[in-house]
Amino acid sequence: MAISYDELRSARWFAPDTLKGFGHRSRLRQMGYDPEDWEGKPVIAILNTWSDINPCHAHFKDRVAWVKKGILQAGGFPIELPALSLSENFVKPSTMLYRNLLAMETEELLRSHPVDGAVLLGGCDKTTPGLTMGAISMGLPFVYLPAGPMLRGNYRGETLGSGADAWKYWDDRRAGLIGIQEWQEVESGIARSYGHCMTMGTASTMTAIADVLGMTLPGASSIPAADANHIRMASAVGRLSVEMVWEGRRPETFLTRAAFMNAAIASMALGCSTNAVIHLIAMARRAGVNLALDDLDALSREVPVLANIRPVGERYLMEDFYYAGGLKGLLKQLASRLDLAAGNVTGHTLGEALADAEVYHEDVIRPLDRPVYREGSLAVLKGNLAPSGAIIKPASCDARFLHHTGPALVFDDYPSMLEAINDEQLDVTPDHVLVLRNAGPQGGPGMPEWGMLPVPKKLINEGCRDILRISDARMSGTSYGACVLHVSPEAHVMGPLALLKSNDLVKLDLTARRLDMLVDDETLERRWAALKPPAPKYGRGYTWMYLKHIKQAHEGCDFDFLESDFGGTTPEPDI
Ligand code: FES
Ligand code: MG
Repeated sequence: MAISYDELRSARWFAPDTLKGFGHRSRLRQMGYDPEDWEGKPVIAILNTWSDINPCHAHFKDRVAWVKKGILQAGGFPIELPALSLSENFVKPSTMLYRNLLAMETEELLRSHPVDGAVLLGGCDKTTPGLTMGAISMGLPFVYLPAGPMLRGNYRGETLGSGADAWKYWDDRRAGLIGIQEWQEVESGIARSYGHCMTMGTASTMTAIADVLGMTLPGASSIPAADANHIRMASAVGRLSVEMVWEGRRPETFLTRAAFMNAAIASMALGCSTNAVIHLIAMARRAGVNLALDDLDALSREVPVLANIRPVGERYLMEDFYYAGGLKGLLKQLASRLDLAAGNVTGHTLGEALADAEVYHEDVIRPLDRPVYREGSLAVLKGNLAPSGAIIKPASCDARFLHHTGPALVFDDYPSMLEAINDEQLDVTPDHVLVLRNAGPQGGPGMPEWGMLPVPKKLINEGCRDILRISDARMSGTSYGACVLHVSPEAHVMGPLALLKSNDLVKLDLTARRLDMLVDDETLERRWAALKPPAPKYGRGYTWMYLKHIKQAHEGCDFDFLESDFGGTTPEPDI
């Protein structure tokens, strides 16, 4: 053991023979605890993001009992603390507006309570970065317990994938190819168990990133939510959290630059969600690691996509990935590119964690010489439309748009865009570049997942299913299509996207990694001079604070005052 009972943080609450100590102990006794429940034992906070309206975390009410069992087995004292649930489907306008609120809540829950370590229960998109960013900033030993993907969807003998198939069948419905009966069968077949989305969306990407960073039991992120292995993993996480406290195994011992580079490499090989870029940068900055868009673009050029999981892959889903060897199998294929000395919650190295890794199905987890896509899943574009960068997922769009010049069709807000794209007389061709602005971190606000702008109905009717689209919004990790996202700086803060007008020519050149409007500087100067800054949308409350402190997409969208280099540390509370 690296530390003794007297050194436990919780002992400051419970051990002193003082009036304060008496107050804390008498209140534990009020709940039915005896001194043997807490004396000499690390207190482990279990941050539970269960809620009645979060289907991805529906099993956490039960799973937390298994975590507690593990903590008790290892001689710890579990306390469950409810935390903001952030259900991707139901929280509006976007869970991204609240990721940093969850991070703040996590950090302050851990700081203000008598706890020595933590288990974090999350999985639905923003919960992974939210919980881990806060816990990294607090710095106590913690383990992340990923919710696990839900089971595959089913519809008339077909497999259904979260998100991607909803849009596919919605387009079929808009085109009159299926009716209400079929649509309702899709509705009841697409999400068949608790757990997060089972495509390689943001949830699967972010839990895998937490795994590669060493914050979960190695490989835990691939276990399906409904698999009994998930229950056993929960107990093991409980036991491990107690060991971590005694060993003083804090996040800074393994959250190094090497770990973040490993996570970025694995993300590319997974065909990750575009959202990963924002969260990974924000998480790294919390750990004091400077990861930039250019690092990710450089890795993307070198690392091929190996996971044949939708939406980048053609057939498979997370359940198939697990049976094929899961994340550990994928990391084994990638081992030559990884820093195997990177550590994790177990105190062992990544290399040791991969000793028993196998790939059982090489069509699901491809070898390096037979990738799903020869480059990584993301590319970073820069140019006079996005001086600080924008993102595209080349692997999931029609290749003809990767080098394309076409006239812009620009919309300033989502409702007017929706009205136009549903107009069957709209003057639009497959060469047009559809643009939505004022949907960024400030403009949305909260950078809603509007970036997979719907293909205009007129083009759908003509059989066209892809078109080049540009926005300062994000898109769901399960989305696909030629969508340029995260244009930075966003239009709302007077980024050059605000200067674009309909019928200007826009040029995308993937090889050169460029995104430009073909408008001369003099014209742009004139437009700039006529531009007026928009009025702030909120005058009070959390959103007011959000608008004052949110950073741009290329910087990870954290609040400036939460980043590790903001200007000092937060002291421990006086007791
Ligand atoms: Fe929760 Fe997709 S809705 S992960
Ligand atoms: Mg999502």
